[in-house]
Amino acid sequence: MNRNSTLCVNFGRAATQFVFSIIIVAAIAAEPTIAWAAHPASRISIDASEPGKPISPDLFGIFFEDLNYAADGGLFAELVQNRSFEYQATEQKDWNPLTCWEVVTYGKGRGSLDVDAGRPLHLNNPHYAVLDVAEVGDGVGIRNAGFDGIVVREGETYDVSLFVRQLYVDRRWGGRPIGDEEEFSLIARLEDKQGEPIGETTLRYSGSDWLRAAGEITASRSENDARLVILTKTQGGIALDVVSLFPGNTFRNRPNGLRRDLAEVIAALKPHFVRFPGGCLVHGNGLSNMYRWKDTIGPIHERREQANLWGYHQTVGLGYYEYFRFCEDIGAKPVPVVPAAVCCQNSGYTAGMGQEGLPMAAMADYIQEVLDLVEWANGTADSEWGAKRAEAGNPEPFGLEYLAVGNEDHITPVFEERFRMIAEALAEAHPEITVIGTVGPFPDGPDYEQGWRIANALRLAIVDEHYYRPPDWFLENLSRYDRYDRAKSQVYLGEYAAHERDRRSTLRSALAEAAYMTHLERNGDIVRLASYAPLLAKRGHTQWNPDLIYFNNTDVRPTINYYVQQLFSANSGDEYLTGEMAEGDAVGSIAFSAVRDSQTQDIILKLVNNSGESHPLQIELAGAEQILPTATWQVLTGSPLAVNEFDAREPLTPQESQLAVGESFSYEAPAHSLSVIRIHTQ
Ligand code: AHR
Repeated sequence: MNRNSTLCVNFGRAATQFVFSIIIVAAIAAEPTIAWAAHPASRISIDASEPGKPISPDLFGIFFEDLNYAADGGLFAELVQNRSFEYQATEQKDWNPLTCWEVVTYGKGRGSLDVDAGRPLHLNNPHYAVLDVAEVGDGVGIRNAGFDGIVVREGETYDVSLFVRQLYVDRRWGGRPIGDEEEFSLIARLEDKQGEPIGETTLRYSGSDWLRAAGEITASRSENDARLVILTKTQGGIALDVVSLFPGNTFRNRPNGLRRDLAEVIAALKPHFVRFPGGCLVHGNGLSNMYRWKDTIGPIHERREQANLWGYHQTVGLGYYEYFRFCEDIGAKPVPVVPAAVCCQNSGYTAGMGQEGLPMAAMADYIQEVLDLVEWANGTADSEWGAKRAEAGNPEPFGLEYLAVGNEDHITPVFEERFRMIAEALAEAHPEITVIGTVGPFPDGPDYEQGWRIANALRLAIVDEHYYRPPDWFLENLSRYDRYDRAKSQVYLGEYAAHERDRRSTLRSALAEAAYMTHLERNGDIVRLASYAPLLAKRGHTQWNPDLIYFNNTDVRPTINYYVQQLFSANSGDEYLTGEMAEGDAVGSIAFSAVRDSQTQDIILKLVNNSGESHPLQIELAGAEQILPTATWQVLTGSPLAVNEFDAREPLTPQESQLAVGESFSYEAPAHSLSVIRIHTQ
């Protein structure tokens, strides 16, 4: 039996168990006095009479990092790889500026491809390709196969653009002069692996200076492994840079936009906030690799591309403007992270010894850079930086509330001195911004303690905690935040995930996270924000497992853990209702929470059964008024080792139904399950 068929059996069992539970629950709902099971029901009493304890309305969000080809080759919809000829051997040893490109000739055409940096488009974008055409034949061009092939769909349009400069005509030395008005053309063509055309357009340009040329190609058929060819029929030499191909059909049809299917799956999480752009990516591999937000805005050919610390390249085509725009598009608050003026402690493979700080002489400029970010996001369109946002397409401010400084940095004197300078400058210039500090990569230990010491000393609003631990750790630490001092900083649990030994995204790991999340809700007065990490991973290009969503060029596959995040985020509330579980078999097996959404007055009950037995429960809603008899009921259940394999035909997903409820009702929590019961009121 292969792995797939094993899974089907597991899902089959899960489904049977689920149907069985529904029958039992229906019976109980109709006649609550019937004692049906061997176990006596455990009583859960919820006090719904008073407004509950206020909990953060922003609690559940997402963390996006350009890791695992999440941005380039992933969410960022650009289809050409190495579009700006900036790949370097320092990123991958067999890379160079011409990686992913090859010369193609048609008929008797002859040509060669080279790289130059003599007269670049922009200093931030130093390299470009030079195509020398010795003999035209039926055309000479360059070809790019994208990120593992270019996916095109019949009838859809693709926006092609590039910068081109006619260097010489006829021959390199001694060719004739080029007139300012002299016209040239290129053909931009989509073709399959065998060279069969799928669509093309003509791009026109003139003179001998850099010019942008753009057009649209309509695909005549669907193809998952297409190539883009840029073809000339002029003998001579041309320089090419920022050769780009975008689907017209991006998320919300945005130019320079996001891959629609992937963005839609992220949007369906209904995140309340998005933390970006990292992670370790932010503090970078060495000081020169820190993520500097100003390098990521403005025209794409002026952005400064750089190595991605995860072993590849970042075009920053998905830059700060696009991140903020995405947040706005999905109704999530932006939580940008800026480096705390130190690089990653693991820079240069130094195993924790590689942290360096910006020289003190550079700090004034760096602090200004951070302050400028606030003006860029929130300033009026006539402020210096607000004008740049407006020019990019957003005259209205983005409404930045949170700003994280640092990412799980090693807490050293070098860090502390710089962090204090940035945090104090922000507090003085922008008291309206909630600054998020950092307390290291672990749930305890020296960085955690020193990070908290600084937070207490500076009276920081929020600190960012990170931890990746086995499922049992989460179950054993449910009460972690019960003990936190409410007079101190609040917490952003910026990165967490339950890690199985083999790093697979099992139902067991998802349920451990779910149980923990019920307690994040209980502590939603001190835990202000929380996000699972990491979010995205491209198959075949994954540096970190597990991730919430896996994808390739054509498909997107949410894990079981994704559905847990979605169930919590889509069913969050802003009041926590006190609840107690009386003695009974379910104690120790069931984690639960009850929240109210003050807008709708819905009461939302979440029940996580981590045990291998179903548990009968008697639920009492004291003081709840005008409860409607039918609740919305979602259940995620199956074998604890179930995994949504990439090719699974029947992935494990929540099942939705209705449930008869009242002020007192019975419920059977299936073995290994998360149940979400949304109780509506009149
Ligand atoms: O989420 C993956 C990585 O884990 C992040 O980049 C880093 O902050 C943490 O170590």
